[in-house]
Amino acid sequence: MTGKSGTGKTATDKTGRSSLTIVLAAGEGTRMRSSVPKVLHPVAGQSLLAHVLGAAPKGTGASLAVVIGPGHDAVTAEVKRLRPDAATFTQHERLGTAHAVLSARDAIVGGADDLVVVFGDTPLISAATFERLRAPLKKGAALAVLGFRAADPTGYGRLLVEGGRLVAIREQADASPQERAIGLCNAGVMAFDGRQALAIIDKIGHANSKGEYYLTDAVSIVRDLGLEAVVIETSEDEVRGINTKAQLAEAEQVMQARLRKAALDAGVTMIAPETVYLAADTSFGNDVTIEPFVVIGPGVSIADGAVIHSFSHIVQASIGKHASVGPYARLRPGTSLGEGVRIGNFVETKAATLDAGAKVNHLSYIGDAHVGEGANIGAGTITCNYDGFSKHKTEIGKGAFVGTNSSLVAPVKIGNGAYIGSGSVITKNVPDDAMAVERSQQTTREGGAARYREMKTRGKTPKSG
Ligand code: UD1
Ligand code: MG
Repeated sequence: MTGKSGTGKTATDKTGRSSLTIVLAAGEGTRMRSSVPKVLHPVAGQSLLAHVLGAAPKGTGASLAVVIGPGHDAVTAEVKRLRPDAATFTQHERLGTAHAVLSARDAIVGGADDLVVVFGDTPLISAATFERLRAPLKKGAALAVLGFRAADPTGYGRLLVEGGRLVAIREQADASPQERAIGLCNAGVMAFDGRQALAIIDKIGHANSKGEYYLTDAVSIVRDLGLEAVVIETSEDEVRGINTKAQLAEAEQVMQARLRKAALDAGVTMIAPETVYLAADTSFGNDVTIEPFVVIGPGVSIADGAVIHSFSHIVQASIGKHASVGPYARLRPGTSLGEGVRIGNFVETKAATLDAGAKVNHLSYIGDAHVGEGANIGAGTITCNYDGFSKHKTEIGKGAFVGTNSSLVAPVKIGNGAYIGSGSVITKNVPDDAMAVERSQQTTREGGAARYREMKTRGKTPKSG
């Protein structure tokens, strides 16, 4: 049967048409040599699937269906996390790309104006390309296929164009030597006129060398029906499919280049951008500086004027205006730095809020903690947040001064303006403006060092050098 036309019943987007996007994510990804489903591997801190879903048509009039492999509950969970409105379908047997699309038959019969099919392992595709691909449908084409010129076309389906018209797609395994010489390839993204999509895809058979239902056969069926199929070209970098870890690394490079360029265009200063790793969701204020060799994971925002010094590693953290981080700092999830906070070398923070002007300049661990405005945390201070069973909180007041090499055994509270003597192991709360020193009395023996040396060297000639 054919789908209903979208007239009246379904909301439309800014193109004036409704859309259903089907993402094929049922692949096992065996060539990744991993127990993690292929589409959950990350590029720039987000799953391959998250990138595809992020670019797919969204908003009013845009619905989404994802075809998932049997038992891939983690993929279903990722879809629900990203797009709670998406329908999910299981492809129980892997019988080919057309078979995978038909696993979502219930969604297709809903009758969107445009049916877009995309593979879940092409993370570099942009939202603009989906728009370009849908445009010919509005002008009456039954099918638009995304094509690209491959540097090495081996393995891709070749687009057969005759007299300027797309007539068929030939899979590598079924192609003649002449067809294999064609450089124009199928990217794997297609847009069908929704009114005709099901009738076309239902006609696809499996008479090919692999015995699979190839979605690509839709092109010759469209031609046989006297309808129009067109090619929309894009660059290879946008449609790289990920089947191996090497391809995952290549996609990461392409994505990083894009993110660095976007950051530079937005005014971030990076003197060696090629050494800085960003996440797809990193956000920057004005006049941010990132020195060479910084790694930024997901969930990081960096406010105006902040400086991230070399060799810092930052994940799920917000960095306030004019804050300074590193070199060699590690900000772990749940870190929030206020305005002008200074985090120095070999400092680690986790689930820690540091209010404006607080300083932790050297060799410290601040975890499950709140540090008040302007507090100064001396070198080597450790919040002892874990007792082997649970985590506990450390509260450090405004303007407090924690002397170097102190251990703060949580749960513990250091009052506003309190002063902790160096080397203390603080296990009890310290009131506001109190001074706490916890260390044994120092003993000093006059002349003791000289006597010790004399004893050790008696009758011996001191070694030279
Ligand atoms: C496919 C295209 C080829 C194109 C290439 C681009 C077909 C028949 N061939 O080939 O023309 O040049 O992509 O990368 O479409 N999948 C399922 N269920 C299945 C089979 C596949 O969900 O039964 C999913 C896979 O997880 C993958 C996608 O569909 O995400 C493509 O399948 P794959 O086997 O990688 O096709 P290719 O041989 O790469
Ligand atoms: Mg593939």
